[in-house]
Amino acid sequence: MADPTESVTITDNRTGESVEVPLVDGGVDAKAWAKLMPGVWFTDPGFSVTASTTSAITDLDGANGILRYRGYPIEQLAESSTFLEVCYLLLFGELPDQQQMDAWVHDITYHTFIHENMRKRFMEGFHYDAHPMGMLMSAIAALSTFYPEAKDIFDPDNRYKQINRLISKGPTLAAMAYRASLGMPFVYPDNELNYSENFLSMMWRVAEPQFKPDPVLAKALDVLLILHADHEQNCSTTTMRVVGSSHADPYSAAAAATGALYGPRHGGANEAVIHMLEDIGSYDNIEPFVESVKAGESRLMGFGHRVYKAYDPRARIVKEQADKVFEVTGKSPLLDMALKLEEIALNDDYFKSRNLYPNVDFYTGLIYQSMGFPLDMFTVLFTIGRMPGWLAHWQELLEQEQRIARPRQLYTGVGERAYTPIADR
Ligand code: SDX
Repeated sequence: MADPTESVTITDNRTGESVEVPLVDGGVDAKAWAKLMPGVWFTDPGFSVTASTTSAITDLDGANGILRYRGYPIEQLAESSTFLEVCYLLLFGELPDQQQMDAWVHDITYHTFIHENMRKRFMEGFHYDAHPMGMLMSAIAALSTFYPEAKDIFDPDNRYKQINRLISKGPTLAAMAYRASLGMPFVYPDNELNYSENFLSMMWRVAEPQFKPDPVLAKALDVLLILHADHEQNCSTTTMRVVGSSHADPYSAAAAATGALYGPRHGGANEAVIHMLEDIGSYDNIEPFVESVKAGESRLMGFGHRVYKAYDPRARIVKEQADKVFEVTGKSPLLDMALKLEEIALNDDYFKSRNLYPNVDFYTGLIYQSMGFPLDMFTVLFTIGRMPGWLAHWQELLEQEQRIARPRQLYTGVGERAYTPIADR
């Protein structure tokens, strides 16, 4: 008998039979109903009240705006850690000691190069105006053809090597996508620079013998990557797990996750926020825009969240980083409008009643734009940041020996009918 204070009882009124199910880790095992009600499915489009897995990686408390990676508060990691250290933490569960960190940084640093066929024939094959996310998603999938051994997903050493490549080559591919769009030559990785500095070098270096990144901007980028590194079962991470559950290789799964992140409801929101602010255009238009949102005619991009019903803790840290970046780059001309929009929304019942607060995307675009990134590179930056989270969840599902993802449905279509020749239709 389960502890009645920590269990639920469900009764099928058609038969009067009941089943008692314990509450475990905040959830109940849906399979417990199967014996009581075979063929009865729980419907939850969008999975808003469904736990698709157990996980020990990231803990979100949406009601209180809490985010922890492997138990460490995001505020402490943003303040004291580095993106590569956070990658290690997410993937291996503990903060590395100095020897582990040195080995990890070495392995990442020395896998940043891309096969020349990828550089010359693949990346240069896109149209000049190809969206970098389309290029990056394709390039990540293409990597599976260069590393066919990645299919051996149950060999831990092999998994480590592919995880390494996906984290180390992300910035190289991203910078290639940007440089190709300008018709500029690709910049090879500079192994004397750290992860974020090297990405800025591959983005911006022109003719100088070595790129000298601004330390404030490189640090701000590193913090932003930390903030994006994982977020439990968001749309793209769920995609990574679903594709991973078919035992596809990690490049194919990561390419699918990149596609999910591309959508404006998800990772594409940072780009959409800037378009929204530019469309609003001036202070005078803020109130009318807010009214159009409340009338359901527009969406306040960068606001709202399926889990957070409080201020996204990442948005607060992003705002702090924005102040540091703007001291170097000059204040974004859109910042004051964004601050005014936030102030109005946070005091308006429409938004308060729906628990709509700024999410991680509301301010990040202002920083990226001030650092010189074009709008279509914003979600590419999100992809680089989220890669370790996707890979940590992919690895976790394999270690959990999870079954293939295959939900059921409620059929609401027509019943059986006979085929009729076209002449009789
Ligand atoms: C990310 O899941 C994650 O963790 C994602 C993420 C991560 O790190 O992986 O945090 C990153 O994707 C952040 C979210 C970025 N997206 C945006 O900023 C786009 C704008 N926001 C939304 O479209 C929306 O808020 C979602 C998609 C984020 C959440 O959608 P839900 O949970 O399905 O909520 P909903 O669409 O059902 O809205 C509930 C109500 C509705 O009003 P009513 O129908 O009840 O009257 O809130 C309203 C919506 O109209 N609403 C908004 C709104 N978001 C929700 N109204 C205006 N503006 C908005 N942004």
